[in-house]
Amino acid sequence: MLPKRRRRVRAGSPHSALASSTPPAARFPGVAIYLAEPRMGRSRRAFLTRLARSKGFRILDVYSSEVTHVVMEETSAKEAICWQKDMNALLPDCPQPALLDISWFTESMAAGQPVPEEVRHRLEVAEPRKEPPISVTIPAYACQRPSPLTPHNTLLSEALETLAEAAGFEGKEGRFLTFYRAASMLKSLPYPVTSLSQLHGLPYFGEHSFRVIQELLEHGTCEEVEQIRCSERHQTMKLFTHIFGVGVKTASRWYQEGLRTLDELREQPQRLTQQQKAVLPTGLQYYQDLSTPVSRAEAEALQQLVEAAMREILPGATVTLTGGFRRGKLQGHDVDFLITHPEEGQEVGLLPRVMRCLQSQGLVLYHQYHRSHLADSAHILRQRSTMDAFERSFCILRLPQSQQAALEGPLHPCPTWKAVRVDLVVTPNSQFPFALLGWTGSQFFERELRRFSRQEKGLCLNSHGLFDPERKTFFHATSEEDVFRFLGLKYLPPEQRNA
Ligand code: UTP
Ligand code: MN
Repeated sequence: MLPKRRRRVRAGSPHSALASSTPPAARFPGVAIYLAEPRMGRSRRAFLTRLARSKGFRILDVYSSEVTHVVMEETSAKEAICWQKDMNALLPDCPQPALLDISWFTESMAAGQPVPEEVRHRLEVAEPRKEPPISVTIPAYACQRPSPLTPHNTLLSEALETLAEAAGFEGKEGRFLTFYRAASMLKSLPYPVTSLSQLHGLPYFGEHSFRVIQELLEHGTCEEVEQIRCSERHQTMKLFTHIFGVGVKTASRWYQEGLRTLDELREQPQRLTQQQKAVLPTGLQYYQDLSTPVSRAEAEALQQLVEAAMREILPGATVTLTGGFRRGKLQGHDVDFLITHPEEGQEVGLLPRVMRCLQSQGLVLYHQYHRSHLADSAHILRQRSTMDAFERSFCILRLPQSQQAALEGPLHPCPTWKAVRVDLVVTPNSQFPFALLGWTGSQFFERELRRFSRQEKGLCLNSHGLFDPERKTFFHATSEEDVFRFLGLKYLPPEQRNA
């Protein structure tokens, strides 16, 4: 059948270039497309097949159990489902591929790769789907399930995160957690949610979350969420809490006092506490830079600066990039480094020397040094405190911009440096696995890991160690994998901790 069709393409036709090239090996292994003919017509189907193959897509000529995506043109959802029922009758054991409108195909061709399947692409009638309720397979704690960097359902999870954030701004911790846990659940789902029935039985989904998700599934937007995002209070709270050194309580008080802008803050120093007077000018001075995301390239450039300082001061010491960048994020609000030395004790008193070295190069715009309280770390673990006792420095460093970055920068004249928030944390080698696990995040993942340890295992976990309060013993770990194993958890690599 195929050779016959090939002969139909005349030499010199606009299609021949595509036809003559042998299909390259499929670039998207999980995607096998079947173009269903009824409304498409033969010649268009043949053209689309060649086009897709030339871009590395796998197109199957015959419908079979290998097909993952069926694409139809000018076909209603009802007709599509009838077609699929007929196919099921012919091939009863065939898995159910996605039924998609041609718009998914054309967008994928334009993108040069399969685009995510969205509700608008799907040929579906609102029948409950045959999939089992997913609650059966999705565990309740975020540390028990993978949360990838680019999840399905971001429209839904971001809406619930906005509700969580608004609750946080109101100081309503319980409400914050409920919405955040539901949002995190959505981030773990292995496929896009297309109907509410897929969420029934999942923990943390209440009537409110269902209402929001239903509205989003039906209209693509939710009025309540949009109102919050546009509200003066929400926008002002976001503005103020993004200032270095300002938390929710302070931001909320300023809002209640009628302050709305950074200029108003600058003009009213009498409103500030002594502590704020010390930090706020720095936060305001570098506001522009600090609210511009830090790129991975910038994080790596900073790592090189810190490593160079370390080579001078304590050869053999290691500098590990943690936080969001270790989870695979391409951007972050700051850069988090863990410093250690294979020989325990060598790291003591290290940080002031590192800071002096960076200062002598003119790289430190601001820093707040916290001495180590490691003598109390056992006590801290027993007290179930989540505060670290490591020696650390919260700094704002002056990162020289490369010529290229300066040319691409939006500011004129070209900036030659950028202020970046950096956390330097020093850990004794024996606590390094716990510190690495604790500082890799996400923040919510850490919170869930500690809750799981406490509620399910009766153990206390923080960035210093894992403590069994009954036996009064500490666990000894040499890697993050050890800590997961002690907790009876399947190991999750950093890229799957984006809860
Ligand atoms: P960050 O707040 O830097 O978050 O904390 P992030 O995931 O890197 O995301 P960005 O920076 O917004 O892109 C990193 C990790 O360090 C822990 C947090 O719990 C988080 O998991 N952390 C942070 C502490 O353990 N103690 C702190 O004082 C601050
Ligand atoms: Mn960070």
